[in-house]
Amino acid sequence: MMTAFLSQYWLSSILTANLEIIYMCVACQTSLDTAKMDAFGERVVDIFNQASLGLMISIGYRTGLFEAMKRLESSTSHEIAAIAKLDERYVREWLGAMTTGGIVDSEDGKTFQLPPAHAAMLTEDGEGECLAHLMQYIGLMGGVEDKIVDCFRHGGGVPYSEYPRFHEVMADDSRQSVVSTLLEHILPLSPGLILALKNGIRVLDVGCGRGYALRLLAEEFPKSEFVGYDLSAEAIDFAKAAAVREGLENIVFEERDLSSFDKDAPQEAFDLVTAFDAIHDQARPDHVLSGINRTLKPDGVFLMQDIGADSNIAANKKHPIGPLLYTISCMHCMTVSLAQGGLGVGAMWGEQLTKEYLCHAGFESVERHKLDHDIQNFYYIVRRVAA
Ligand SMILES: C[S@@+](CC[C@H](N)C(=O)[O-])C[C@H]1O[C@@H](n2cnc3c(N)ncnc32)[C@H](O)[C@@H]1O
Repeated sequence: MMTAFLSQYWLSSILTANLEIIYMCVACQTSLDTAKMDAFGERVVDIFNQASLGLMISIGYRTGLFEAMKRLESSTSHEIAAIAKLDERYVREWLGAMTTGGIVDSEDGKTFQLPPAHAAMLTEDGEGECLAHLMQYIGLMGGVEDKIVDCFRHGGGVPYSEYPRFHEVMADDSRQSVVSTLLEHILPLSPGLILALKNGIRVLDVGCGRGYALRLLAEEFPKSEFVGYDLSAEAIDFAKAAAVREGLENIVFEERDLSSFDKDAPQEAFDLVTAFDAIHDQARPDHVLSGINRTLKPDGVFLMQDIGADSNIAANKKHPIGPLLYTISCMHCMTVSLAQGGLGVGAMWGEQLTKEYLCHAGFESVERHKLDHDIQNFYYIVRRVAA
């Protein structure tokens, strides 16, 4: 059935002449498993639907539609648009996608309601964990598709400047995945660290982005001193302005390219170095890690959060978000590193390669942790000297 659907609606109208020829060659082989082909065809159509919903969920998050609907009984598109202060025609079409996608309920096609259980996962400050903000990555990646296609043909990379919303989206992600669990779950991975922070130590965050994690630490531990480095002027300006607004006097942010950190890192200057999702997409993760080794005091700790994966692609087949992470890597993490003339190790460089890099950088002790709430990351507690 799906085969007929595909040939009727797709091959005749959409696919290129080349693909039609391939399809016909495949179809004339008598040994072809047509049930498998039909099932795969259905899956492809499902992927198309789900990918489209991803984009529309991103729009619902950014326009405040989910927030508006969270507080409403079943309402018309005009009522929803008025509350959200948006154009009704667009809201009605969006409601079409949300209703047929099973995200919004509607019996009559005229009034619409976001079920509380869905609202909990699509809005902030709800009972669940908001996931809608993650869908912003879909549009972010779509925005550079032409440039990535060009890189497939000619090599090279797409620079950060081509992703105008990257730091905003990354900060949304970081606030919910790292910052919200930093004090309760992440810091306790290194016994004694919280006490040391309370007593006063020097802390460096590499690739700090907009600085949400570091600002939380600076507020929580006023006797400690905090430094954040990042390549991005936009992210550093944001972090500096936020720190001033928050009245934080124990924190400094500096725009800095860490590609030669192995040579220019201040020696034995910090008790704690942190890197939240910020090593794999560096131009030179090897240089950054050597620099961290150099800048840590002998008994210091390096706390590194990075993508949790195996270095072997086939071993990641059961990874719950494998396709998503390889895609984000290809369309962002790997390519921004290559654009700096970097190594492009990619987000899915995996535990084995990560440990190799840490070992090369001179670290003698590496503990890898996984947290129950986090399906995406590994947390490495790393020391210069084995205990
Ligand atoms: C995935 S983001 C993580 C940001 C932040 N740690 C967070 O969790 O929100 C990686 C960060 O590394 C920074 N970065 C990339 N290449 C860099 C380089 N060569 N030197 C310094 N920072 C770099 C980027 O600007 C970006 O802010």
